[in-house]
Amino acid sequence: MNEHDSERIASLLVKDGYSQTDDVEQADVVVLNTCCIRENADTKLYGNLGHLKAVKDRNQDLQIVVAGCLAQKDRDEIAKRASWVDVVVGTHNVSRVPALLEDSRNYGTIVEILEESAIDDELFSLTATRANLPFSAFVTVQVGCDNNCAFCIVPAVRGREVSRKFGDIVAEVERLAQEGVTEVTLLGQNVNSYGRDLAIEARRSGEYDRFTLGDRYVVDSAHSLRPLFSELLREVSAIEGIERVRFTSPHPKDIRPETIAAMAEVRQVMNQLHFPLQAGSDRILAMMHRGYTAERYLAKLAAARQAIPDLAVTTDIIVGFPSETEEDFEATLEVAAAACFDSAFTFIYSPRPGTEASLMVDHFIDPEVIQRRFDALKVVVEHSALLKHQERIGRVEMVLVEGPSKKQEGVFSARTSQNKLVHFARPKSGSQVRLAAGSYALVEITSATPHFLRGDLVDVVAPPRHRRKIDVAVG
Ligand code: 5AD
Ligand code: SF4
Repeated sequence: MNEHDSERIASLLVKDGYSQTDDVEQADVVVLNTCCIRENADTKLYGNLGHLKAVKDRNQDLQIVVAGCLAQKDRDEIAKRASWVDVVVGTHNVSRVPALLEDSRNYGTIVEILEESAIDDELFSLTATRANLPFSAFVTVQVGCDNNCAFCIVPAVRGREVSRKFGDIVAEVERLAQEGVTEVTLLGQNVNSYGRDLAIEARRSGEYDRFTLGDRYVVDSAHSLRPLFSELLREVSAIEGIERVRFTSPHPKDIRPETIAAMAEVRQVMNQLHFPLQAGSDRILAMMHRGYTAERYLAKLAAARQAIPDLAVTTDIIVGFPSETEEDFEATLEVAAAACFDSAFTFIYSPRPGTEASLMVDHFIDPEVIQRRFDALKVVVEHSALLKHQERIGRVEMVLVEGPSKKQEGVFSARTSQNKLVHFARPKSGSQVRLAAGSYALVEITSATPHFLRGDLVDVVAPPRHRRKIDVAVG
């Protein structure tokens, strides 16, 4: 979400006539888009601001913007601690960045933080293709989160769940498809509750326009909560030119059979599910307020795997939540092994000020113990990832080519339908095969590691559709 906000701010500035530079000495504007979900965003921010002060001393015209969730949380504090900042803008009004830059030229430092009530359609309509992947786009379907996981700062900094209008999402994907985008990733903190707020609001006001599409998806008595996320998946997949639809993240407690059915039935919805486990101990899961037990989680996973052929599953796991015992941690290892994830993002618990878990100071776990557990979890996760990746060897996979590898000369990188990274040798010069970023190709998988695959190019199936590189990049 944060990365996508950066893309959106970059895209706004490009529309306003700026162009991107990698050289800070050349910059007229520097935007620091903060994310405080895990690491010490504030230490990083003030470190970066310290460096930028020196740059600003050399270039008085430089304007500095601090955006993102730390700005939302700390508000005036930032301008107090770093008086050389020009604009502080929260998570609900990124669309205002160009206007605020203009105003701050006349009036000095501006701090503009809005509460969630100020969310408007303009916020959603700010979209951009991805910096280095002009054929792939993130599309926000929902902002905020109505859950209250005890470790998580998101509800405090992103506000309540607000769904974007159904018709607007479809219209945006249509526009992206016309520009040649073939892959979209639908973004929300809890995509399975997409539309819930729209339905409630429609019933309250009697106005259904926020989520109708023609005469479809109105609230009816049989389906008290509509539209469903699954309907969005189907509608977006039906748009001409869209070949791949992904989404992140569904909450395990809310995933619906309709979503699984859409994934199973619709060719364009990729066989990949990000399914955040967080912990394997029922006691810790309850303390986290996750709303499921390990058994329930595994049952839902099994149902998804049964319905969707060849499903890849990734997850998020936190180690060292307050009061986590050896026994609790063993349960996490067991569930992780049983789930046999294709990959996992593992995190060391980090107290976020203002969250429920951050108050459990007496039960914080010794960092050395956490590190040992973290390393043990990594072994389990890499073991299953390698198994899953080895299963691919010998298969011919359809891949979306991302471009030349950044690390290895003569090698291309691509993504399989399961979103696995695969590296393969570029066609020899003089060969008939033409390969460019954004092409679809068939690659035979020849070897595997826990984090990526290697393969041989079999054929190029389709050339890129995007006509121009969209000039938006994130620094
Ligand atoms: N400490 C560690 N990890 C966290 N996450 C969220 N909050 C914290 C925290 N306080 C992780 C969760 C979430 C992912 C995006 O970040 O695993 O799913
Ligand atoms: Fe945070 Fe939980 Fe909401 Fe995810 S579902 S954003 S972890 S509060």
